[in-house]
Amino acid sequence: MSSNHSRPAIAATGLRKSYGDHVVLDGIDLTVARGTVFSLLGANGAGKTTTVKILSTLINADAGAAQVAGYDLAAEADGVRASIGVTGQFSAVDNLLTAEENLLLMADLHHLDRTARRQRTAELLEQFDLVDAAKKPVSTFSGGMRRRLDLALTLVGSPRVIFLDEPTTGLDPRSRRAMWEIVRKLVAGGVTIFLTTQYLEEADELADRIAVLDHGRIVAEGTAEELKRQIPGGHVQLRFDDEADLAEAQRALSEASRKDDALVLRVPSDGSLHSLKALIDRLDALPVKVGELSVHTPDLDDVFLALTGNPTDEKVTSR
Ligand SMILES: Nc1ncnc2c1ncn2[C@@H]1O[C@H](COP(=O)(O)OP(=O)(O)OP(=O)(O)O)[C@@H](O)[C@H]1O
Ligand SMILES: [Mg+2]
Repeated sequence: MSSNHSRPAIAATGLRKSYGDHVVLDGIDLTVARGTVFSLLGANGAGKTTTVKILSTLINADAGAAQVAGYDLAAEADGVRASIGVTGQFSAVDNLLTAEENLLLMADLHHLDRTARRQRTAELLEQFDLVDAAKKPVSTFSGGMRRRLDLALTLVGSPRVIFLDEPTTGLDPRSRRAMWEIVRKLVAGGVTIFLTTQYLEEADELADRIAVLDHGRIVAEGTAEELKRQIPGGHVQLRFDDEADLAEAQRALSEASRKDDALVLRVPSDGSLHSLKALIDRLDALPVKVGELSVHTPDLDDVFLALTGNPTDEKVTSR
């Protein structure tokens, strides 16, 4: 049954985009269920912003089709625009205006009447913890405050689908967590979030589904757990009753590495039960007793590295 309600918030097939002979998107398919967070993960230049720009009607794809909020991207672009909000990678606030003035201006652009304009502005200042800063020019804001105002501006028109392009790049951990809380509240209210990020931890925290973009293609897609399971191996962590046992075990297991007061061993080859059992047999034969053994599946960093061959360097921002 495909009632309006059960239609995905975003459905795209075969999106392509090139600049000259540089292929940026080489056939992208995406489906994002309503009321969920979908994270597009990729290194610098992978094509994240290009994807956001296409899906939010800012630029045209060379090929492919998409529906956003039930509207066809090509044939019903106005419907798409009326249903979405976009917080771009780089701040779009007016530095000379105050936070309140920025919001009032945006409410004007959305044709809210005088009362609604004031009311929505007050609500958003409150919701984004900007009441104290409301009358200050944005030029005096910290990066975190600016990012919150950016998102508040995006919400003036009460969009059902929100695109957040690297919303926390350059923020300190506390501001990042504050942004995550805001995203969670939005989703609890039924909004759909399309989030791009270079931070695996962010995708892990927020996203219902994650797609990894590399060289213009989606190289993996699934929940964080599903992605982690695609990577063979993982590691086991061993703890010992005392330091002497640990030292003895480390001598016997030459490939083990020390992590705090534990030893870490990669599960060899394919990560199957068989290879895990072979490893445990070796541990059984050790001259010392293993106090505690835990098996760890790979984390998203392992996944990203295995899929793209790029370590995820935190990028240096100029903001
Ligand atoms: N207007 C343009 N003209 C030419 N090349 C472009 C244009 N816009 C983007 N590109 C190129 O397309 C590629 C993808 O860019 P995009 O901005 O989508 O990457 P991104 O994943 O958002 O990267 P970042 O993490 O740095 O924001 C890059 O190689 C970029 O140089
Ligand atoms: Mg970008």
